[in-house]
Amino acid sequence: MSAKPTEDPLVNKALPNGILPPNFELPYPDKPELITANLLKLFDLTPDPRIKFVMKNLVNHLHAFVNETSITTEEWMKTIQFLTTVGQTCTPIRQEFILLSDVLGVSALVDAINNPPVKGATESSVLGPFFTEDAPDIEQGGSIASEGKGQYMYVEGTVRSTDGTPIPDAVIETWEADESGSYDTQYKDRDHPDCRGRLRTDKDGRFGYRAVTPVAYPIPGDGPVGELLITIGRHNLRPNHLHFMVEKSGFRKLVTSLYPDGDPFLSTDAVFGVKKNLVV
Ligand code: BEZ
Ligand code: FE
Repeated sequence: MSAKPTEDPLVNKALPNGILPPNFELPYPDKPELITANLLKLFDLTPDPRIKFVMKNLVNHLHAFVNETSITTEEWMKTIQFLTTVGQTCTPIRQEFILLSDVLGVSALVDAINNPPVKGATESSVLGPFFTEDAPDIEQGGSIASEGKGQYMYVEGTVRSTDGTPIPDAVIETWEADESGSYDTQYKDRDHPDCRGRLRTDKDGRFGYRAVTPVAYPIPGDGPVGELLITIGRHNLRPNHLHFMVEKSGFRKLVTSLYPDGDPFLSTDAVFGVKKNLVV
């Protein structure tokens, strides 16, 4: 009599990924430097050259960090717990990882090396986590803010190519925090977009719209990134600003912000977004 096959009690059985062991031998990693060396050697197996290059660099820097700081087991577990909380704080409308990248200057650095200054062009600035896809279309001269919001301000300008030629029909997305320093997505009861809009430049490249006078505001401080800033003794304020994203086929997309002069947080912006040319 044969035994009845029992049902697998594992809910999600781990499966081999199908990749065979390498055809080279590695020494047992029984010295710290052999862990690093073995791992780097294993990148010989990585087919994509860019992924290989980036990952080898990442591993090199990460291992150097562990060596140079002599990080303790407790500190590393705390780091992992911190990153876990960062992930758990993310929702479809809250991106705590972007905020972490922002306060560590990584977003600004990635932006800076990908968008070096071009003569005659407005410089870029960080996108931030508050851009949304649902901005309403507004007419020239229309308002991006609902009635009664903040102190009115009229914004006007011209979009030009680097040789000074006006660019008609460029699409401008613009968004800002309201008079209390909050973006619409930070309100629990958000039922429509506010303080954001999309418009097109006219035949002379010009645009104009009503907005509210921006105020300096704190980036979200109620999560792990907020706690990190307190731990390291840094304020969480951004100087007042207005965001712009400008697009026109045949041209590079521009993501930037303008920062009115005189704000006390211009040079210590919590996310390193201010460049001298963007202070207006
Ligand atoms: C913003 O300007 O909207 C922003 C940028 C980075 C982090 C938080 C907010
Ligand atoms: Fe902002």
